[in-house]
Amino acid sequence: MRARTSAPAPGTPKASTMSSSQSPTECFVYIVLPGRTEFVTAGRFELTTDRHGIPTGRFVYGKSYLARDDAVPLDPVELKLRKGTFRTSAMKGVFGAIRDACPDFWGRRVIERHAGKSPLGELDYLLFSPHDRAGALGFGLNAEPPAPHREFNKTIHLEKLQSFADKLIADEDVPAGSEAEQVEELLLIGSATMGGARPKAVVEDDGALWIAKFNRPDDKWNHARVEHAMLTLARACGVRTAESHVVTAGRRDVLLVKRFDREKAGDVYLRARMVSGLTLLRAEDTHRDRDKWSYVVLAEELRRASAEPKADAPELFRRMCFNALISNTDDHPRNHAIIAKDADWKLSPAYDLTPATPMSIERRDLAMSCGDAGRYAHAGNLHSQSIRFLVEPDEARVIIDEIEQAVRARWYEIARKEGVTEKDCETISGAFVYDGFRLAAGLEM
Ligand SMILES: Nc1ncnc2c1ncn2[C@@H]1O[C@H](COP(=O)(O)OP(=O)(O)OP(=O)(O)O)[C@@H](O)[C@H]1O
Ligand SMILES: [Mg+2]
Repeated sequence: MRARTSAPAPGTPKASTMSSSQSPTECFVYIVLPGRTEFVTAGRFELTTDRHGIPTGRFVYGKSYLARDDAVPLDPVELKLRKGTFRTSAMKGVFGAIRDACPDFWGRRVIERHAGKSPLGELDYLLFSPHDRAGALGFGLNAEPPAPHREFNKTIHLEKLQSFADKLIADEDVPAGSEAEQVEELLLIGSATMGGARPKAVVEDDGALWIAKFNRPDDKWNHARVEHAMLTLARACGVRTAESHVVTAGRRDVLLVKRFDREKAGDVYLRARMVSGLTLLRAEDTHRDRDKWSYVVLAEELRRASAEPKADAPELFRRMCFNALISNTDDHPRNHAIIAKDADWKLSPAYDLTPATPMSIERRDLAMSCGDAGRYAHAGNLHSQSIRFLVEPDEARVIIDEIEQAVRARWYEIARKEGVTEKDCETISGAFVYDGFRLAAGLEM
């Protein structure tokens, strides 16, 4: 690795000090409160490992934070506003709300690359590049929170960011470059904290922040165009989605998805709190916890957490049906979230909608259980527990029929209109209303 001389964002640990052996064991947790743009210190998080290697996380809200009239809890399920220490040994000792603010597969890779080693300690990942992460939380080693971040990547940086992402995917060493190149790389690192596996960066454009999702050289189709088309198709099916469009950088398409957890206020941003479906389910990302991944249970947790359960639970039902009808088998719990712009939590707009083309045309499974017959993406199975989504059985039948008809009738037209090529349409065509969706399977509606 070449020597890196540029300074990371304030509050960010220097790569040279990042190693698992020297990992910090505690940090401060900051939050941007509803309607505010500056961080305040909410509490302290400590992560230790005992001599058997069992991790324990501890979180305590600060006294001055609890004394505020406008204090809000970090999440609606676990870290309720109260004195005393919260403890967990689940999830490697990292509370769900904090884990949701951590980088995921892609972000971790960028950070490891920059640090020149892996794996790093959990807190190293958490402390790195504090300004762009999803939700309203920040982390640092100082009791005083950092100032709000004012500088973001712009869309004109996309080509550069994409080329760095390509090198990282190819695992090529990034050649020694000018100071300017190092700064560009740090910009990418600075926006590496959004979750997910696909290469991405955050850019500012048109007075808003956008997640830029890059195509990978090994993609089987143009993901940027197809994902944008799926968001458009979902809206045509009555699903509330994130806003998106496709831009071209260096002759390649890049999907821009507008961030729903940020809203511009002057030259800084208001931030909404955000926790994933995984946190609502109190589940881990691992296969061991797979039996906790359930739309039905998520609907019930959502009904408890949401200020608008009568709107949000049926909306989740619609998303589940839509995912089954486009064979979005990557609909894992991190692809669902709730957000709080003020004190109230609501289901976030839908995002990360991608079709899949498994070989089987008889049975396809969603990532989460969706009814009496488990994960089976089948009309009768989706219908079987509709009442838990606050959808009466008759109404559920109508919703399933409507989405089925809309997907069948409109996927191709919308995909072509949004720039998906004829060849890519052919490749993904098997994803839509697959045969098994209505197979006679003893799952009558
Ligand atoms: N419009 C948005 N506004 C705010 N946060 C978002 C938005 N879209 C996605 N996110 C957050 O960023 C994360 C990564 O985004 P996304 O799921 O689209 O990426 P991905 O790499 O395709 O994910 P996966 O690993 O599921 O394939 C999400 O899990 C969610 O936390
Ligand atoms: Mg995702």
